[in-house]
Amino acid sequence: MRGFLSLQVIAVIATSATGSPLTIRNLSDPNYGPVPGESSYYSDYTGRAPPFPANVTAPILPSAKGQPGPDDRLFQNLLAAEWAIFSFYQQGVEVFNASSFTALGFPNTTYSRLLEIRDTEAGHMRIFQDSISPTSIKPGSCAYDFGFQYSDDASVATFLALQTLIEVSSMVFAAGLVRQAITDETKSALVGIGETETRHGIWALIDIWHVDPFAGPIDTVYPYANQILDSTNRFIVPGSCPSINPVYPSPRQNLPQLSSNSTVGVGTPGNMIVFEFVDPENVPVFKRGCDYYAVFFHGLETISVPLDISKLSSVIPGELEEKGIILVVLSDKKDAPTQDSVLAGPLFLLQQPSALQTQFPK
Ligand SMILES: *[C@@H]1O[C@H](CO)[C@@H](O)[C@H](O)[C@H]1NC(C)=O
Ligand SMILES: *[C@@H]1O[C@H](CO)[C@@H](O)[C@H](O)[C@H]1NC(C)=O
Ligand SMILES: *[C@@H]1O[C@H](CO)[C@@H](O)[C@H](O)[C@H]1NC(C)=O
Ligand SMILES: *[C@@H]1O[C@H](CO)[C@@H](O)[C@H](O)[C@H]1NC(C)=O
Ligand SMILES: *[C@@H]1O[C@H](CO)[C@@H](O)[C@H](O)[C@H]1NC(C)=O
Repeated sequence: MRGFLSLQVIAVIATSATGSPLTIRNLSDPNYGPVPGESSYYSDYTGRAPPFPANVTAPILPSAKGQPGPDDRLFQNLLAAEWAIFSFYQQGVEVFNASSFTALGFPNTTYSRLLEIRDTEAGHMRIFQDSISPTSIKPGSCAYDFGFQYSDDASVATFLALQTLIEVSSMVFAAGLVRQAITDETKSALVGIGETETRHGIWALIDIWHVDPFAGPIDTVYPYANQILDSTNRFIVPGSCPSINPVYPSPRQNLPQLSSNSTVGVGTPGNMIVFEFVDPENVPVFKRGCDYYAVFFHGLETISVPLDISKLSSVIPGELEEKGIILVVLSDKKDAPTQDSVLAGPLFLLQQPSALQTQFPK
């Protein structure tokens, strides 16, 4: 076993740009490559090719034997999520150029901001890799499809809408993951990461959407962060993940994903909402005579509204402020007090900017 492991450690998994061999041991060394917080690389790399560490897409196998670190699973989940988020920006950098945005009237800084956000996401990736102990695998990249392969106006619109959704949901899952963190270092790191995602979101609200960037006194807190991570599985090309990657997220409930019927109304407070299931093969079983709820999360508020199971309809509570993001899940218990009481969702009802208040994502 030991021999097998050390063989893996010295096995060449890539060749560096300079042609010298790159091993698992190199990549497992936090001082290898640009160091987040020291190097300006994670802010000002302007290449179209993927930056380090995303220029090595293979999983990084353990370089030591022993017990996993206390927060390894959390950081494996985060790294797998970050591959999706990074790839979103990297694909944007590759598909678009500065004119894609200026042609539609967006500021001439838009493309360079996207490069910079892409770089900070690569920095997150390195931080998460470094935070996984040498005894645990660091997940590699899958293939991702975000629906904007071509540099046409519709793709720019899809990209910018998803950008806002991805950043706001990253803020929500970072806040939720704090509940799973064991060490204080991890808890603080999660807050710092969430703050960075907030800056990305704020940039878009000001420069792209030209709206009030603030979202009231508190952003939405949702307790079951892995359910949000799970919803990013919809972007993964089926079967494209490295087979030795851990299950993502771990643990995974694989809950039915929700959308809503946008012809009924926009997803804002006071409106009726009719739910639909994204995958007809993955739907909850509702028993007649039992009570079900649509449970809405906004800020620190949790409000349960009865779910009409014959129409799959409910009402978005009118008392919620039309700011930031509202999350809704279907539950068999008022306020969805446990992870297992969630039967479907979460569905993200983006409130800000109002231009994106329609059903989203499809
Ligand atoms: C990845 O990028 C880093 C930083 O530019 C570079 O040193 C390294 O050689 C690259 N690795 C590969 C496999 O291209
Ligand atoms: C990888 O690490 C070895 C030492 O373990 C070193 O000799 C080699 O130059 C490193 N490779 C790169 C690309 O830095
Ligand atoms: C952007 O890409 C388009 C093709 O999609 C090309 O016609 C245009 O010259 C490019 N503009 C810049 C500034 O690179
Ligand atoms: C970008 O737009 C600003 C005004 O919005 C203008 O002052 C500046 O010269 C432009 N820069 C380039 C490179 O076009
Ligand atoms: C959405 O709601 C409209 C209006 O009630 C209805 O006609 C339509 O069939 C619904 N769409 C789906 C997919 O159920």
